[in-house]
Amino acid sequence: MEPMSATNLSPTTLREAFGHFPSGVIAIAAQVDGARVGLAASTFVPVSLEPPLVSFCVQNTSTTWPKLKDLPCLGISVLGELHDDAARSLAAKTGDRFAGLQTVSTESGAVFIEGTSVWLESSIEQLVPAGDHTIVVLRVSDITVHADVAPIVFHRSTFRRLGA
Ligand SMILES: Cc1cc2nc3c(=O)[nH]c(=O)nc-3n(C[C@H](O)[C@H](O)[C@H](O)COP(=O)(O)O)c2cc1C
Repeated sequence: MEPMSATNLSPTTLREAFGHFPSGVIAIAAQVDGARVGLAASTFVPVSLEPPLVSFCVQNTSTTWPKLKDLPCLGISVLGELHDDAARSLAAKTGDRFAGLQTVSTESGAVFIEGTSVWLESSIEQLVPAGDHTIVVLRVSDITVHADVAPIVFHRSTFRRLGA
């Protein structure tokens, strides 16, 4: 197969190229006026231990992010290997993104998905403009780990499981 030209930097070729980098998938969610609001994201990156910081990138065109960005607390859930339908649902343009999902809401307003491997209660520390996305840096205030839950892996637009 011919290698792609280095100058072929369209959004389509970039998305395809970036998709070769496997990642986990998180749900980032909170209560907004009594309703659960959130989205799925594959751009999550742990950033710092002291202070405890993580990040993800949000599209500047997102209509969901403006509902979350001013809240004092957001919940991050690391999706497990059985959450392929959940990941699609959490990214859906229409309908209830949390349909069929058991969630836990904290007093601070963070929303977590039951059955996921890690919960990070967090608050926005910094917003860094980065092209058509914004890098959202979050400070973690609490963690819960369910070590027996294996992660889902997003790779080339497909949800996969880790090999043995
Ligand atoms: C596997 C997967 C990963 C995604 N990763 C991101 C991401 O990192 N950042 C982002 O802004 N949207 C991401 N999305 C899209 C959002 O989940 C959601 O579809 C989008 O925010 C919907 O548009 P809205 O914000 O206007 O409602 C991802 C979707 C899927 C299915």
